[in-house]
Amino acid sequence: MITSQPVDTHSFEETLRFGERLGRELQRGDVVALFGDLGAGKTALVKGIARGLGITQEVTSPTFTLVHEYTGGRLPLFHVDLYRLDSPEQALAIGIEEYLNGPGATAIEWSEKIESLLPATAIRIRITASDNNVRRIEVA
Ligand SMILES: Nc1ncnc2c1ncn2[C@@H]1O[C@H](COP(=O)(O)OP(=O)(O)OP(=O)(O)O)[C@@H](O)[C@H]1O
Ligand SMILES: [Mg+2]
Repeated sequence: MITSQPVDTHSFEETLRFGERLGRELQRGDVVALFGDLGAGKTALVKGIARGLGITQEVTSPTFTLVHEYTGGRLPLFHVDLYRLDSPEQALAIGIEEYLNGPGATAIEWSEKIESLLPATAIRIRITASDNNVRRIEVA
């Protein structure tokens, strides 16, 4: 499923379905590093990953805690949002390494903030708004 070809989606739901396909294939320890501006659709994709893992809880962005954990699916999902992070050192202070080699799958919004800490094996996904409801999704 993980293609090197960019995929264009035309709605929130379509991006969610892209994430859902990815979520079905994730393995323990996988890190999905998301890159993209405000409103690009990172959370939409993570909601899809959760659905693909069989998680039925509603996924909402972790704001104050930086990390939400969702259980009840095929694997636990750790949803990390680093928007409010000031430095990679701060990420280490909150124990980010635990999630970079975690007992489940980890999806990280604002991965650019910890670029130097990302594992080489991370699945890197860039989402770019190209038109009103069009989003280009590129997997590196
Ligand atoms: N093709 C699309 N895919 C995903 N979202 C879309 C698409 N077209 C329009 N949208 C809209 O773009 C917004 C994406 O919001 P979302 O919270 O997923 O972005 P985000 O990248 O997580 O932003 P933030 O950086 O604030 O966390 C939603 O309002 C959604 O309805
Ligand atoms: Mg978000």
